[in-house]
Amino acid sequence: MPRRKREKIALKKTETSRRTRRSSFELRRIRGMKDILPEDMSYWDWVISKAECLALAYGFKKIETPILELASLFTRSLGKGSDVVEKEMFVFTEKGGEEVALRPEGTAPLVRVYIEHGFLNRPQPVKLYYFGPFFRHDRPQAGRFRQFHQFGLETIGEASPMAEAELIFLSFILFKELGLDVSIQINSIGCPDCRSSYIKVLKEYYSSRKKYLCETCKKRWSKNPLRLLDCKETDCRELSLDAPHIIDHLDEECRKHFTKVLEYLDEAEVPYTLNPRIVRGLDYYNRTCFEIWPSDEETSSQNALGGGGRYDYLIKELGGRETPAVGLALGLERIIILLKEKNIKPPVDSRPLIFVAQLGESAKKKSLRLYERLRKEGFRLAQAFTKDSLKNQLSLADKLEARFTLILGQKEVLDKTILLRDMENGSQEVIDFNKIVSEIKKRLEKKNNNQF
Ligand code: HAM
Repeated sequence: MPRRKREKIALKKTETSRRTRRSSFELRRIRGMKDILPEDMSYWDWVISKAECLALAYGFKKIETPILELASLFTRSLGKGSDVVEKEMFVFTEKGGEEVALRPEGTAPLVRVYIEHGFLNRPQPVKLYYFGPFFRHDRPQAGRFRQFHQFGLETIGEASPMAEAELIFLSFILFKELGLDVSIQINSIGCPDCRSSYIKVLKEYYSSRKKYLCETCKKRWSKNPLRLLDCKETDCRELSLDAPHIIDHLDEECRKHFTKVLEYLDEAEVPYTLNPRIVRGLDYYNRTCFEIWPSDEETSSQNALGGGGRYDYLIKELGGRETPAVGLALGLERIIILLKEKNIKPPVDSRPLIFVAQLGESAKKKSLRLYERLRKEGFRLAQAFTKDSLKNQLSLADKLEARFTLILGQKEVLDKTILLRDMENGSQEVIDFNKIVSEIKKRLEKKNNNQF
């Protein structure tokens, strides 16, 4: 084949493959994953900082764990039959051949830390809080994402019922401070002993009604009968209403423990609803279980804002010594969605005190150092140094509702002065460049305005 023809064919092939590559490219987010845009950040910052302040005030210490963990950590702790392990975990084999998972929840990783780092030798209980992304391959819908964020608290090494009362109290206060009305749904699922005798009674109740159950619940009947109680399908829900209650089958110790939790909550004036259908979807729980629902959604845990409970057997299950523990996690996306629905806005005080404007090349050159000088004084600032037009800069200063604008032009640079414009009354004054800080402070004092 002649060289020219060969070259033409090769060129055509490259172009085709480039075109194919380009056409298979799709610019989009992965289903169930969300971007958090700058305009939403004030909600996130507000909720997280409130939660962190409370956690710290009650003696919790911050911890971060990796997003990837061995998949077996979750299979072992959440239970093979749990929805999270059975259907929702993002699992893959990494290059070294190990099966790893994007963490679907935060309790198991914290228990791993507790055992692996010998936290048993630290003063007990170990109280930890965390915040970060979690992953579940669930069907995306309102308030349900494949990547979502939790704020979690865990008290490891504490058997006292005061530990769960403290966590519930803390979350109740957090929601109150955010201006959200919530309803705390609480139950006790006892210890493995009282649960096994209850499960016999529960299965008996359901055996004559099995045909009315949904397909998933038919499987649950033999694999995980407790979960029959929190199915969201209408028929299953109706059947669960007359099902026997586990609290009527608690042994003496479990009953006493639960009564104490409720007494502490009563004393702290935390309202709650006893809900026999709160059994939680993860296998590690025992005794107290609870969920936090928006107060106007009293009938469904579909959009629970948070949930938690005791897990006194998990540390041993994962290879540690028997250690009592309790924890809770709040879903941040759901909290923010609810805040928006209720038209509750984070307090804003992002108005800049001073907008720094510049006009001309020599002024532009001076602007960065001037800005830094003012920032170090603690003033809240704004600027648009890439812009050349003074008109554009002033209209931005207006939009941002800056209290003052400092205008540095060619003439001011030569005179070692600067223009100080009061944005409230439009008055403008030439001031000494070296006295900017004292001049601004003087004006603020005069107006008794301490906004910086
Ligand atoms: P969880 O109930 O599975 O518990 O999740 C806690 C909260 O995370 C839920 O109430 C919900 O607000 C949020 N959440 C869960 N899945 C999603 C999702 N797909 N999309 C959006 N938000 C979601 C736990 O994870 C336990 N580790 C809690 C715990 C801590 N128990 C003891 N310590």
